[in-house]
Amino acid sequence: MTMPTPAVRDRALSLPVAELPAYLYDMAALRAHAAAVRDALPARVELYYAAKANPEPRILAALAPYVDGYEVSSGGELSHVARAVPGRPLAFGGPGKTPEEMTAALAQGVERFHVESEHELRMLAELARRTVPGRRVAVLPRVNLPVADGSLAGSSLAMGGRPAPFGLDPVRAGAVVRALTDGTYPHLELRGIHAHLASGLEADRQLAVAESVVSWAAGLRVPPAEVNVGGGMTVDYARPERRFDWAAYGRGLARLAADHPRLTLRIEPGRALTAYCGWYATEVLDVKHSHGEEFAVVRGGTHHLRTPATKGHDQPCSVLEVEAWPHPWPRPAAEGRRITLAGQLCTPKDVLARHVPAPGLRAGDRVLFSLAGAYAWNISHHDFLMHPRPGFHFLDT
Ligand SMILES: Cc1ncc(COP(=O)(O)O)c(C=O)c1O
Repeated sequence: MTMPTPAVRDRALSLPVAELPAYLYDMAALRAHAAAVRDALPARVELYYAAKANPEPRILAALAPYVDGYEVSSGGELSHVARAVPGRPLAFGGPGKTPEEMTAALAQGVERFHVESEHELRMLAELARRTVPGRRVAVLPRVNLPVADGSLAGSSLAMGGRPAPFGLDPVRAGAVVRALTDGTYPHLELRGIHAHLASGLEADRQLAVAESVVSWAAGLRVPPAEVNVGGGMTVDYARPERRFDWAAYGRGLARLAADHPRLTLRIEPGRALTAYCGWYATEVLDVKHSHGEEFAVVRGGTHHLRTPATKGHDQPCSVLEVEAWPHPWPRPAAEGRRITLAGQLCTPKDVLARHVPAPGLRAGDRVLFSLAGAYAWNISHHDFLMHPRPGFHFLDT
């Protein structure tokens, strides 16, 4: 069980049922968390927000005072983020960039390009020559580095350190650095190295990965001015009260920065910045027994909150009891102590949380799923079964 903030609890109870499900964002909690993250980091470490985690314009704007810029991973994100937070620095990453996206990014004056392959580099060089002939475009090749044995252990989503479609193979890095520094690409400038290797790492593992990346980059023929060590700070859905240790991570990054006094270090977390500010509020529609277990069916489901289905976890939640039962028909209620919370979709995969301790749960009670501020609504298959969309409430108290 996880406790909602008072603002979220009040709104979840006061919304008319017809306005459920709803996403509730506690903007004060978001700001406080982002400020604490920023404070834990040394001044020399730049903090970019990976917009893919939650690109709601209100979220992007609320983070603006605490971040140095935004990482975008498509042409769509690029134009969306540029509209939501105009004038803020953008880093354009992601595999499979199209010529149209690259041209738009160049025309828009994107600050950094995270280049994922040699093909992409050649394409960017030619497009830069045509689109912004008077400017040298700052490039950070993304490198899929091998890291110290075990550093990625525990990752829920490893994207590097193993065969992957992301970034350059390290054996090609020397050739790429040479081409970016020997005049082959006069319109491009080697600004640094980028490496996002995994998501879901604790602070000690993140630091080990950052150290590996920085020491590899420092050994290049032309040591880079910037190293972006990516995002991937863990969010623990099984133990939501345990948060990523930003203080320890910040101390480690400070040591790393001190060892490399001329280097700009950058991180680009998504999930660990916004997950905690969002809740998905809904109502229990039905309670039933099946083969010795109990199930509650709630309004909505994984077509709104796909996170538990994609990550294979139980979304943390809390129950808000509602005494009123306005209907003339009997009110179903759970008899046991543990109940599985499913959604309205016709698929056994539409499960939000299994065996939740919710004795006596009744139809009409409300459920608040927490940690729903990242990779939630924006990664969900909204149109499957054509149920209504949730409301969105940005609570600014
Ligand atoms: C290149 C890159 N940077 C940053 C992130 C953000 O990761 P997280 O939300 O786990 O912090 C991702 C996530 O996929 C990514 O691919």
